[in-house]
Amino acid sequence: MSFDTVIHDGTIVTASGSFEGDIGISDSRIAALAERIEGGTRRIDAGGRLVMPGGIEAHAHIAQESSAGIMTADDYRSGSISAAFGGNTSFVPFAAQHRGQSIEDVLATYDARSKSSVIDYSYHLIVSDPSDEVLTRGLPAAFARGITSLKVFMTYDLMNIGDAGMLSILDVARENGALTMVHAENNDMVKWMNARLADRGMTAPKYHAISRPELAEEEAINRAISLARLADAPLFIVHVSTEGGAALVQKARLGGAKLFAETCPQYLALTRDDLDRPGMEGAKYICSPPVRDHETQEALWRHIRAGTFDSVSSDHAPYRFDDTGKLVHGTEPPYPKIANGMPGISARLPWLFSEGVIKGRITPEQFAALSSTNAARIFGMSRKGRLAPGMDADIAIWNPETRRKMTLEDQHDNMDYTPFEGMDLTGAPEIVMTRGEVVVEHGKLRATEGQGRFVARDRVDLSGVPGIPVKETALMHAEAGR
Ligand code: URP
Ligand code: ZN
Ligand code: ZN
Repeated sequence: MSFDTVIHDGTIVTASGSFEGDIGISDSRIAALAERIEGGTRRIDAGGRLVMPGGIEAHAHIAQESSAGIMTADDYRSGSISAAFGGNTSFVPFAAQHRGQSIEDVLATYDARSKSSVIDYSYHLIVSDPSDEVLTRGLPAAFARGITSLKVFMTYDLMNIGDAGMLSILDVARENGALTMVHAENNDMVKWMNARLADRGMTAPKYHAISRPELAEEEAINRAISLARLADAPLFIVHVSTEGGAALVQKARLGGAKLFAETCPQYLALTRDDLDRPGMEGAKYICSPPVRDHETQEALWRHIRAGTFDSVSSDHAPYRFDDTGKLVHGTEPPYPKIANGMPGISARLPWLFSEGVIKGRITPEQFAALSSTNAARIFGMSRKGRLAPGMDADIAIWNPETRRKMTLEDQHDNMDYTPFEGMDLTGAPEIVMTRGEVVVEHGKLRATEGQGRFVARDRVDLSGVPGIPVKETALMHAEAGR
């Protein structure tokens, strides 16, 4: 057998185990894994390195206008380059519907925007307007195109779809084998806090953290799980930021719920003290749900170890610290006028590797699962996320010993800050390849704009997830079927 590339003498790390060996790549796919593989047009020495499935970033806002109309700083070119420097070989940003827009129109917009990607990509839809047209034609057509996941919001006035809207979406997603993702925060609780803080003149960035109470997330997660159970539909809870929210997810999963969840590095690395930095610096750390405290960080790590979370995603939502982003409403805007979100697509995996694997909080195999394998399975990327014959050769070769400090320069994005600036890192991806093509090599970009391809995704994989039946829904179905 002849190979285009052979990666040799590395430690091959997969979600289910690790071994010393070689990988042979032919025609953009993994063709062989063995103790020793000879030949190869190119041979890459991975001695002392970890050979991992390339990261899949399943939560990123790229070339996306926020509901308030602010465009992210990264487009598909810069966002994908930044992702690749951080060890990712594919990503799934959002294609956001604003009210009144058809799904067809949304997808045409993002199809035009995504052409410059250097890594493979798909989209999750964001649905803010579940009209009859959207539910009966737009969404089924998108699912049929392989866009098999969508996100809904329980917060933000311009995005919140309400419980009835969510049930309608869960139902159409279930019928089509698609997965609903949810941003779970109780909108009215947040608005109630906002009004009271405003009455008291408490509008500096630090008040953002208390304007969105832990209880608002916990209530919404509980409700979202209940709605999904009623509709007998799978649900993915994004950016879980609280111990209470994680405990709800854990309990439901242990009961067999069709439930998936993620958390993000910012909830493990930052606290509300970061929002209280001098002047307007705190604006850089505004995201929703907000970053919390050290006790929450420890609890979220425990849940990562216990398997409550399927993935650790970045929620890369890059708004510059200038009048295009965070300060679009002036130099000292009140916190409700500051764009929500922070960058992190390049930081996610080096940070998780360093704080997780190197510090012994998670194993390398868990890292592979949390960074890639689980996302591929849940989001239907059947040729990605695993190192096995027949899979796309999407591979990141990590040097576990490289030491550095996180810098803005290393992010290779369009941002003017990183919230992780100055953090110590051990371990770095040295070679990143998508479908056998090297994208990043020893700090140099080797890819050409537009070499990424759209990935049509399969239905959500619910194997091993029985669901928790709801008596009344079962009775209704039984009676209707009679
Ligand atoms: O603050 C955040 N996370 N902004 C991005 C949009 C979202 O809710 O994920
Ligand atoms: Zn969100
Ligand atoms: Zn997000």
